[in-house]
Amino acid sequence: MATTWDATSVIIIKRDGGKLPADAIAWFIDGYTRGAVADEQAAALCMAVYLNGLDNDELAAWTEAMIDSGSRVDLGTVERPTVDKHSTGGVGDKISLILCPLMAACGAAMPQVSGRGLGHTGGTLDKMASIPGWRAELSTAELRRAMTEVGAVISAASEDLAPADRKLYALRDVTGTVASIPLIASSIMSKKIASGTSALVLDVKVGRGAFMTNLDDARVLAETMVGIGREAGVATVALLTRMDQPLGRMVGNTLEVDESLDVLDGGGPLDVRRVTLALAEEMLALAGLSVDPAAVLDRGSGHDAFVEMVRFQGGDLDAQRPTARFQQPIDSPATGWVTDLDALAVGQAAVRLGAGRARKEDEISYGAGIECAAKPGDPVTAGEPVFVIHADDEARFPPVIERLAGAITIGPEPVEQPDVVIERIG
Ligand code: URA
Repeated sequence: MATTWDATSVIIIKRDGGKLPADAIAWFIDGYTRGAVADEQAAALCMAVYLNGLDNDELAAWTEAMIDSGSRVDLGTVERPTVDKHSTGGVGDKISLILCPLMAACGAAMPQVSGRGLGHTGGTLDKMASIPGWRAELSTAELRRAMTEVGAVISAASEDLAPADRKLYALRDVTGTVASIPLIASSIMSKKIASGTSALVLDVKVGRGAFMTNLDDARVLAETMVGIGREAGVATVALLTRMDQPLGRMVGNTLEVDESLDVLDGGGPLDVRRVTLALAEEMLALAGLSVDPAAVLDRGSGHDAFVEMVRFQGGDLDAQRPTARFQQPIDSPATGWVTDLDALAVGQAAVRLGAGRARKEDEISYGAGIECAAKPGDPVTAGEPVFVIHADDEARFPPVIERLAGAITIGPEPVEQPDVVIERIG
């Protein structure tokens, strides 16, 4: 690798709107990972990228440098086609819990590396961790064995998966440089590409409960990630899906595992089933499998694969999952139809109940959360519950009741609900 670079020169090129050579990017990211480039220098470069962007060549080099900061998982020995999914995160987004075993039941292998929840969106690992005995940390050898024996795994990222991203993300978080499309796209794609999948479907959420609140930005993010994936030899497609209201009716860890099991039994809320099947169809097409995922879901094969996947990771689905000590209904103030439900308010309220973390080090309460008894399109009667809130500590109820009061809108007539899947990019 060329050693002619120094951090200040690299920062100045991007500060002045220039194009960074690939070897300068590789040098900088490698230096930052090893500690040779300082936090303040990496923060300055992130701000320069935030302000001036990266073109396609720079983006490819940046992503590759982040992948090369750790090791790539080799899934070459897995006989089934490997295909993964990434969601940009939302409220009540439990799709991975259903999709992972569904893919296994359809003959694919899904090596899902997930994260814990931060902010108002829940994390897949926290949901799975509500199952007694389940463990998120797997060695690479265990991961390969799970892919062959079960075809599905949900695991935490190993220390060696794109370590540059871990450092850079923490830095971006405190320097106002998270909301940059090239930095988000390279961050997500470096981890997905390094985790060894051959194909990838992205669920880019749009709406007030999502990271991207506007459709144009979401479209650019999706196109950028699809471009990075293809450049790296990973067949990639994106779906833009709505995140204005929570997905499904349950928000909270145990509550969402229960709802996922309903969908795996062929029932559950229609929006969760719709997004799951839309993603599943794209994934199966990329994997070259002609299987009808709806039929597989309806005959319970996905449920069987979920049981196997959980058992492989030490979990016991027959053991009692944590439930909250207290429940409190919140009644509808009027009779009519629910016309709107604010996903951001519900997500923030769930965090206040203890279902998520306000700070990284917070303990979560697995049984806490919110049941949305009424969603847009449903009729409601004054005095009947529209929410049931669950918490281990009753003192958490008053601020949540206040936050949820404005979260639901009731009108005199039903309002037609648009399809939760907006468009496909790829
Ligand atoms: N998720 C990531 O993994 N990285 C980002 O930059 C934003 C969301």
